[in-house]
Parts: sequence; C-alpha cells; structure tokens
Amino acid sequence: MPSIHSLPDVLISQIAAGEVVERPASVLKELLENSLDAGATDIQVQLAEGGVRLIRVADDGGGMDREDLPLSLLRHATSKIASLEDLERVVSLGFRGEALASIASVARVSIASRRPEAAHAWKIEARDGTLAPAALAAGTVVEVGDLYYNTPARRKFLKSEATEFGHCDEVFRRIALARPGVRFQLQHNGKLIHRLAAADPERRIGDVMGEDFSAQARRVEASAGSLAIFGFAALPAHARASRDSQYCYVNGRFVRDKLLSHALREAYRDVLHGSHHPAYVLFVELDPAGVDVNVHPAKTEVRFRDARSIHQFVFHAVQRALASPLGAGQGTAAYPVPDHGADVGGAGFIRSDGPKPAPVSPWHRQEQVRLDVEQRVPAYVDFVRAAADSRPDIFEAPELAAGAPAPRATEAGGSGAPFLGYALGQLHGVYVLAQNDAGLVLVDMHAAHERILYEKLKNAADGGEPASQKMLIPALLAVSATEMALALEHGADLQRLGFEVAAAGPLELMVRAVPVLAAGARVPDLIRALLDDFRNFGASDVLSAHRNELLATVACHGAVRAHRVLSLPEMNALLREMEVTERADQCNHGRPTWTQLTMSDLDKLFLRGK
Ligand SMILES: Nc1ncnc2c1ncn2[C@@H]1O[C@H](COP(=O)(O)OP(=O)(O)OP(=O)(O)O)[C@@H](O)[C@H]1O
Ligand SMILES: [Mg+2]
Repeated sequence: MPSIHSLPDVLISQIAAGEVVERPASVLKELLENSLDAGATDIQVQLAEGGVRLIRVADDGGGMDREDLPLSLLRHATSKIASLEDLERVVSLGFRGEALASIASVARVSIASRRPEAAHAWKIEARDGTLAPAALAAGTVVEVGDLYYNTPARRKFLKSEATEFGHCDEVFRRIALARPGVRFQLQHNGKLIHRLAAADPERRIGDVMGEDFSAQARRVEASAGSLAIFGFAALPAHARASRDSQYCYVNGRFVRDKLLSHALREAYRDVLHGSHHPAYVLFVELDPAGVDVNVHPAKTEVRFRDARSIHQFVFHAVQRALASPLGAGQGTAAYPVPDHGADVGGAGFIRSDGPKPAPVSPWHRQEQVRLDVEQRVPAYVDFVRAAADSRPDIFEAPELAAGAPAPRATEAGGSGAPFLGYALGQLHGVYVLAQNDAGLVLVDMHAAHERILYEKLKNAADGGEPASQKMLIPALLAVSATEMALALEHGADLQRLGFEVAAAGPLELMVRAVPVLAAGARVPDLIRALLDDFRNFGASDVLSAHRNELLATVACHGAVRAHRVLSLPEMNALLREMEVTERADQCNHGRPTWTQLTMSDLDKLFLRGK
C-alpha cells in the first residue's frame, strides 16, 4: 500500500471537473449562469464544432477587476456567498466557486473583463496566469477552447459534433426561457442559430418553444403564501413522444426534479394517456430558505424542505389549469383575476392586457416575482379573514385543530340551514356552489373530498388494518421491472394499507383488493402512484416513516376528479361530510377547500347600496 499524499491542485480540479464538466453543454451552462449572475442584459454565444473546439460567451455584465481575474480561476473562490447563511438563502445561480477552475483544468481558458469604471479591460490566460491589457467595451468574454485536450480518456466520451451541439442548444434554450428580459444570441460554426430580443415572458416562450406551443398551452398561475407557480402547460394535443419539452424551474433555476415531474404527471393523468409526455414551461418560486440547491455539483437537482406541500400545490395548480376551459391561447387569464386597482408591476405574464413589461425579466429575481403575486394575496387573505370573522370557529389554527378535535356544529344559528348551506350546482366540473345563510359558498370539490378521505384513512389506520374490499374482477396492470421489484419488496406495506397485490406475470401485477375508502380510484393509477412513492421514499421502513404521505396519495386518487359530474344529492353529501370532518377547511397542504362570498361581498361587486 503506497503512503498517503495530498493530490496536486490541478488534479483535484480535474476530479471536480468530472462532475461539473460532463460535456461542452455543461461548460456553456456554467458560463451563461456566470453572465446572468453578473447582471448581463445581452449575452452572445459562439460555438465551434459542437463546442468542443470553442465556446465563447460575451456578456455586458458587471465585469471583474484586474485583481479578481486570477481569483476567479481559483477553486473555492467566489464573490457570491460568504457564509453558511448566505448558502442557505442563495439566489444567485452559482455559489460553489469552482466552475471556472474546473473548466480551466480540462480546457484552454482565457477571460477578458472590464468593470464599468476601469480605464480598460484585462485579459488572463488560465494556463500560466499571465495578465495583459485588452480591448473590450464592458463586461466579460470567456473563451474555452479544446475541451479535454489534456484528458484524452474523457474526450473519447464525447459524441458527434451534431449531438454535442444539440446539448448546447438545449442548455441555451433552457436559460433563455428563464430570462426573457435578457437578449441572447447563439452562433455555431459562424452560423446564426438563435437571436432572441428582450421580450415579455410570453413572447420569449413563444420564441423558444414555437408558436404552436403557445397557441395550445394553458396558462398556469397560482400562489399560496410565498409559494407561487406560473408558466404554461400544453394541452394533451401538444404532447410529445419524448420528454424534451419539459421545462421546470425553481427560483429561476432549471431543475430536473422527481417530485415536480411526479406532480406534473399526476396533474396530466386525467387528460393524457399512453406513452405521451406533456410539454410545459413552469416556474416555481418559493422562499430560497425552503429549498436546498446544494445537492449536486451541477445544481440541476434540488431538495425541498416541505416536499409534500410543493407536490400538492404544483399538482393542483396544473390540474386546474388543464381542466379550466378558460385560458387557452394568449391573452386570456386562466383565472380571471379581480383588478384591485393595483398595477401588476409590468409583468406581462400576469395580465397580458396590462402594461408591457420592463426589458428585465419579471421573474428572475425573487423579490420581483413576489411583488406580482403578493399584490393579490392580501386581497385574498382579507377576503378569507372576513369570512372567518363572521364565523371564527371554522378557521381554527391547524395546530389547535390537530391537538383538540372538536366536532363542529352542523347547524348555523338562525335559520337552521347547515353551515355550508345547500348545493346550487357545479361550476366547470371544479367547484361546487352552495347557498348558505351568509351568501354564496364555493367549494373546491376535489380538494375537499381529498381532505375528507385523508382524515378517514388516517382514522382507519389509527384503528388498525383498514377495511379492505375484494374486487369483483381483479385489476391487472403492466409494470416495469423496477415497479415489479418495488411491489414485491413492499407487499407487506401494501397489505397494511388495505391492498392485496400479487404478481400475475413477469411484468404484470394483479390487484385483488383495495381499501374500501379508495373504492372510487382508478386502481392501476393508484398502485403506480404508490409504487412511485415507495421509490421516492426509498427507506425500508416506509410505512412507519411515511404513512401519512402514502395515505395522502390514496386520498388523492380516491377523491372525485375534476369534471366528474355530481348530482345535487352528492354535492350536499359532500358539504355535510365537510361539516363533520376535522380540518376540512384546508386541503392536506394548507390551501382552503372552500370559501365564502357573503351577500355584502356580492353587493359590493355590483355596487349595490352606493
Ligand atoms: N461573466 C462574468 N462576469 C463577472 N464576473 C464573473 C463572470 N464569470 C465569473 N465571474 C466571477 O468569477 C467567480 C468564479 O466563477 P465560478 O463560476 O468559478 O464560480 P461561482 O459562479 O462563484 O460558483 P459556481 O462554481 O457555483 O459556478 C464568480 O464568483 C464571479 O465573481
Ligand atoms: Mg459560476
């Protein structure tokens, strides 16, 4: 055994480069992110031979001093964070301080840069650190040549020029989508491939995704507290055979996240069948402290602190957008947003008939995005609070409700009508409308039913094995080898949840029994979702650690789906169930399941009595 010794710095960087610099496209991603972090509004990219021979990124951002140039190439040197607190709330795309060092260890790198106040630019050659004055108007130009020239083994893994260029193009599109306010240009082998003017978000999505995507996409827009989602989700007609039109961002960063893609798959489940993949461009925004981006060196993975809420939030927002008959095409908001006289702050996204956006992206900074959303949140909160004031007990704080279950009175004082009133009808297959003493009650049918089922499932599980119901005809479902393995591994867990599942063939499962409370679910979909949960939770002791999450999945599948036509007696039954269900005011994840428009709210809408 040879003795232990420290590795030379270059070798350390080359090892790190293995994670960060997988191919030319990963270099391009790092350089583009650096330009954006530097505040660039104009970014020009030149590639040669798929990026292997040259990647050149020129920006008009803040630039670097002469003194900073050598530091920028050092490992673990960054201007973006200084402490653990910074890391936990990071809003810049970079923060590891190692991209340029890694790239410089496997390619020939030079950087020319000029800060606005500097007399002229400076250029550094990474090879030997030489610095020389250079001519440059402002900003930074990074040139990366001959990728893997010194690591031939890695070079062998590169694919054809066309393939590598394709990956670069994809990275370019991803970043351009998220920053509509920035001008971008891409050239390959001297040929102009993209020129994107600064635009509002909708325009940029049209420019990058193609007009047919925009024409067929539904606007997605929702918020809850500091959590918000916006973007477009294509109708099933625009589904693709591959996943290449799926763009998901968290706080402006493109991510591949299992949780989000699972939520989206679920949201499309009712409308998309077979092997097709939905197309979407969706931006999720949340408090940076609620998401860990320091999971993988390439930063395309994230970890959410409150995964389940995010899952449900995204799922419901997209499912509703797809279910809503409004909102197709440009210029129609999926949810008519009451205009409270507040200017939406130039976010063309929120109201396309509103003021046109400033040339800078409305969503690339957390604060800016929040503005758009929060202007409407207070109105909503006031509204809910007004309802709460007239009936305080119904809005118990969740923690109080959890600690002290107190069945709610069904009868409201006065007329003797039930608290949530009697159903009038269904709105677009999503909401139940009811009349009560105070006025109009609006119920999110799926969310409310989901909550009721969830509470019942939990109660049943607390009392031992849940009642299970044999199926008249066992359900068969084709599964992948992984799903089969998960089903076998978790057979006992499934049984304790009330399912009876067995292998019917090498890649086929047979379901003989389901929990009584999930009798309304599409069994194959539910089983697949549970297997997916098992995969995501991973641990061996899944049931004790994640029981409630699993029950929530069962509840979600068992609950009435959007577009299910309910009869008035069914609607009334739902209202009565809500009245006797603990915490029925909120869905499993804190969104309200119903709301009240009082007569005076309605009078105000019609300016009565003024
Ligand atoms: N285009 C640019 N304009 C201005 N400064 C830049 C530019 N590119 C890099 N820098 C400076 O160089 C530093 C190092 O960049 P590098 O990409 O290696 O690390 P980082 O962006 O801080 O973190 P990460 O490794 O996560 O990307 C940055 O922190 C920044 O100060
Ligand atoms: Mg960087």
